[in-house]
Amino acid sequence: MLFLTGATGLVGGGVLQRMLRADPDLRVAVLVRDGSRWPGIPRVTPVVGDLLAPGLGLAADARATLAREVRLVVHAAADVVFSRPLDVARATNVEGTRRLLELAAEWPEVERITYVSTAFVAGRHTGAIPEAEADGAAGWVNAYEQSKWEAERVVRAAARPWVILRSSTIVCDDAAGTVSQFNAVHLAVRLLHRGLVPMIPAEGAATVDVVPAGYVTSAIAALAVRGDLDGRTVHLCAGRGALPVVELLEATWDVFARDAAWRRKALPRPVLTDLATYALLERSIEQTGDEALRRALRGLSHFAPQLALPKRFETAGADALLGAPAPPVRAYWTRVVEHLLAARWGIAA
Ligand SMILES: NC(=O)c1ccc[n+]([C@@H]2O[C@H](COP(=O)([O-])OP(=O)(O)OC[C@H]3O[C@@H](n4cnc5c(N)ncnc54)[C@H](OP(=O)(O)O)[C@@H]3O)[C@@H](O)[C@H]2O)c1
Repeated sequence: MLFLTGATGLVGGGVLQRMLRADPDLRVAVLVRDGSRWPGIPRVTPVVGDLLAPGLGLAADARATLAREVRLVVHAAADVVFSRPLDVARATNVEGTRRLLELAAEWPEVERITYVSTAFVAGRHTGAIPEAEADGAAGWVNAYEQSKWEAERVVRAAARPWVILRSSTIVCDDAAGTVSQFNAVHLAVRLLHRGLVPMIPAEGAATVDVVPAGYVTSAIAALAVRGDLDGRTVHLCAGRGALPVVELLEATWDVFARDAAWRRKALPRPVLTDLATYALLERSIEQTGDEALRRALRGLSHFAPQLALPKRFETAGADALLGAPAPPVRAYWTRVVEHLLAARWGIAA
């Protein structure tokens, strides 16, 4: 039996579907906070619990069944909000992971724990980022990144064999560019469209590393069942297929400019700048900008500085294991922007 957390989320949900499809005999227990919202899925048993509760808050009978039957654990649940205070992010991401691992340490049949992490545990490091333990020395852009780095340390110290799979930022469902879950990247594109991003904190060589959910979930589903990856850290990232910010801006603008009404606004393209100048802009908008712009830039502030910290995630390990790299961002970015415009960013205008 597989014990999966985060099955109601974007990544966990995709992993669940793919693992069920790949193995017709697989049975899965999924940790859910609200059992009434779980749709019945054959071969899947919802187990009510919460990463924040001691022992995950599992009922005694569920705990006994899991102890008897679980062979694989895939931990994809997390608090993924970038703006959380550190103690809140830690409560779910670090202590929740610790609680799960403590339970798994008592389950005799567990062969491996697969921890779904983020490539951005690299935090403020720049340059080539290896598929290996990150030292944390450069610090992080937000508490989410830090809490995921701390959770990796908990996983690395686990009593059971583990593998860490680090996803880059997911921007669409698949290479068709469909978006079913909106996030900070999409918010940034929306602000660009409204002309609310006068500056982007990015040097000329900076790139944007993003991936489709399908690439990430199929990789996790494939790698979680392999028996030869214990102790490995793998990047599920665009890597060399990341798109330079300049090019991304160009492609985005091209899609916007197909609309004559938008063209008539003659919005200036954002200027690429350094972090210090961007921080000045943030401060001045905080003092004098309108409320919508202030709120928007506050949201971006937990994420935008990554653009000014150019890095390239190494993916040689992942590419060898999966037989191919992630699709290059250039191949689908235009379709993502088209989808965002058509879907109006999933929100009322
Ligand atoms: N999406 C990305 O771009 C991205 C990139 C890199 C890494 N990741 C990693 O991928 C994993 C999944 O992210 P996602 O994008 O799928 O996020 P998501 O769609 O927001 O899903 C988060 C999942 O975690 C569950 N969860 C949150 N707090 C919980 C708690 N206290 N107890 C039990 N379950 C809890 C949620 O359950 P409820 O339904 O009850 O809320 C949901 O199933 C995370 O570990 C994240 O760090 C994601």
